[in-house]
Amino acid sequence: MKIITQIHEMQALVKELKKNNSIAFVPTMGYLHEGHLQLIRTARRSNDITIVSIFVNPIQFGPNEDFDAYPRDFERDKNICLTEDVDIVFYPSVEEMYPNPLSVKVLVQARTDVLCGDSRPGHFDGVATVLTKLFHIILPDRVYLGMKDAQQVAVVEGLISDFNFPIELIPVATVREADGLAKSSRNVNLSPMERDQAPAIYQSLSEAKEIIEDGEKNIEKIVSRVRDNIETKTSGTIDYIEIYSFPELQRIEKVQGKIIIAVAVQFTKVRLIDNIVLTIES
Ligand code: PAJ
Repeated sequence: MKIITQIHEMQALVKELKKNNSIAFVPTMGYLHEGHLQLIRTARRSNDITIVSIFVNPIQFGPNEDFDAYPRDFERDKNICLTEDVDIVFYPSVEEMYPNPLSVKVLVQARTDVLCGDSRPGHFDGVATVLTKLFHIILPDRVYLGMKDAQQVAVVEGLISDFNFPIELIPVATVREADGLAKSSRNVNLSPMERDQAPAIYQSLSEAKEIIEDGEKNIEKIVSRVRDNIETKTSGTIDYIEIYSFPELQRIEKVQGKIIIAVAVQFTKVRLIDNIVLTIES
């Protein structure tokens, strides 16, 4: 496994590798967990070379967000990548990625006025900008992103399509704990009581899926069912429960076609997000 910290080195290596190999790219901010591993394993199965980037991207964090407190442990991540047979880890410094203030930034024009985009202004511009840089540096054939961050998948789908990147986006299903809670580095910040309650989020989404599959089409009724469930079973405060078309993230009148039900719940120290995407034939 190679660890590369310099952009020019990464570009030189990829230029050679691309001649005979398909390249998979798994972008991460490190502190790898089972969710990341699922992306890496999925990538390895269908590609010759798998490249994982580890870069805590400062420009996607708001001024009051946890950039400094974001967990980092490169030694641990490196060993995980070794065990997972990753071919290359791209691990640039902030100075390497942003030597000067940016003269050009990617501004996301759609799909960000809802869900997390609404509460994290500028966040998806930072994600789209760093991924544009990483796509140019790594020149992947396929990029693997987790559906845990469904809005990120939607935004990157738009980025790839609007900017004509010759890259296939492969969304990977959310990896969950045995009780259904979506895996996340932030789960450790739940109190024991909150940790017991948190699976109710996914249970309520699963129940919504069931009632939709049984024929319920009324958005308000579905949302209020999810709300009742989360309010009775957790002490968290609901940030949003919303239903949109996916990946366009447009408001819809009734449940039809490919849709997302997305939830964010604020607990004492941590805000959890989760979602379900499903397709309803009319
Ligand atoms: P990060 O939060 O490290 O996540 C890296 C990838 O792992 C993302 O595609 C995310 O959706 C996926 N992931 C996280 N938890 C998951 C789970 N439980 N199941 C499946 N996949 C999961 O997302 C980012 O980093 C950054 O925004 C990045 C894309 C690297 C740009 O900086």
